[in-house]
Amino acid sequence: MISTSDTSTMKQPRDFPFGGVVGVGVDPLYRWLSENEPVSRIRLKYGEDAWLVTRHADVQTVLRSPSFSRAMAAGRDVPRGTAEDFSTGMVSMDPPDHTRLRSLVSAPFTRSSVAQLSNRVAEIAEELVDRIADGNEPFDVAEMFSIPLTLTLICEVLGVPYEDRAQFRRWAEDGMADDADEDAAMKLWQYHNDLLVRRREDPADDLLSFIATEGHAQGIDDVELAMLAMTVLVAGYLSAGTQLPTMIYVLLTRPELRQQLLDRPEIMPTAVDELIRWIPLEVHGAPPRYAAEDVELSGTLVRAGDALIASTTAANRDPRVFTNPEEIDLTRQHNPHLGFGAGAHYCLGAQLAKAELEIGLRSLLGRFPDLRLAVPEEEVGWKHNYLTRGVQKLPVTWK
Ligand code: HEM
Repeated sequence: MISTSDTSTMKQPRDFPFGGVVGVGVDPLYRWLSENEPVSRIRLKYGEDAWLVTRHADVQTVLRSPSFSRAMAAGRDVPRGTAEDFSTGMVSMDPPDHTRLRSLVSAPFTRSSVAQLSNRVAEIAEELVDRIADGNEPFDVAEMFSIPLTLTLICEVLGVPYEDRAQFRRWAEDGMADDADEDAAMKLWQYHNDLLVRRREDPADDLLSFIATEGHAQGIDDVELAMLAMTVLVAGYLSAGTQLPTMIYVLLTRPELRQQLLDRPEIMPTAVDELIRWIPLEVHGAPPRYAAEDVELSGTLVRAGDALIASTTAANRDPRVFTNPEEIDLTRQHNPHLGFGAGAHYCLGAQLAKAELEIGLRSLLGRFPDLRLAVPEEEVGWKHNYLTRGVQKLPVTWK
């Protein structure tokens, strides 16, 4: 039987995100919903109610099908966890506008470009582990290793001065907090706009110069171009920089997995994919989509104009697709996870992220095979006011 989105028959929405689970835990309600109510009503802290979509097949449909739009979020009271609405720029557009902007920044992130960048990733990772080996114990994996690795890389690709990092990180992280600081987001935009103006006058061999000159030649306005540069910078260091310490946490708290990676380093590519599948990174699900027409999903009729949140966390644990989904199998072969999304907005930096994660894990575990937590597992602090989940700090020791 088809249920409908007619408000008279709608159930009371559940508060979202579901409470109670911290760290890398996944609330069992996701599994229950996937079995019993795969398209269900939710209410976020801000904005209108939405449908939460939990089955892998439906999540793929929402992310891939032109029947679901990001652009329709414009002017709506978008369901969100932060006071600020981030529905602007490339991430909030539909093709062909989206395609036009995305193609301006895609060249450095293709498989072949990343194959060349990998040497640089390895060099930076080696410099960082050298510095750590010469420094004090314990050290924080996030601040001493993963953020500098991912940030140096994306700064070099874009041509953003690395020495400005203290300032732009503060703007980026304050601008995206639950109680988002609009002023910080504005300063970050202004910073990128100034860089683009300078590059247009004096181009260099970097992505900012390409955005500044080519984007301008195509008639794309400066507001949009600075937003694009800013998106690449923030997406470029924050997700991978957050995910790497969580992966280390998972490996150090499950010594059999760490040993398996040390004994069989050749499984690193499947291991990284599996950890991306298993670790719940997003807090509020994928950015909301709106139905452009009436669509039926797993027996529920979603009406044109309804908001939907596709849960990649739930999809990545769907037993219809993954054998033993709760288990971490570092050699998993069939792994069509949605950790990098799907469709038009599929992560631009997925290849780079995988290279950073594989090389980063190999360098750290290779140099410090006795790496272990410097605090009891329960004392590791988790960020709870950001869009993505991750450790606040990961203090580790190696001697
Ligand atoms: C482990 C690391 C990463 C994860 C898990 C991740 C995840 C994602 C996901 C799920 C999306 C899709 C959001 C949506 O459906 O609307 C996305 C989009 C995006 N990612 Fe990543 N990402 C990672 C690293 C990176 C890196 C290194 C870059 C560097 C360029 C990057 C740049 C982007 C950009 C620009 C978008 C927006 C794409 C668009 O709207 O067309 N990401 N990422």
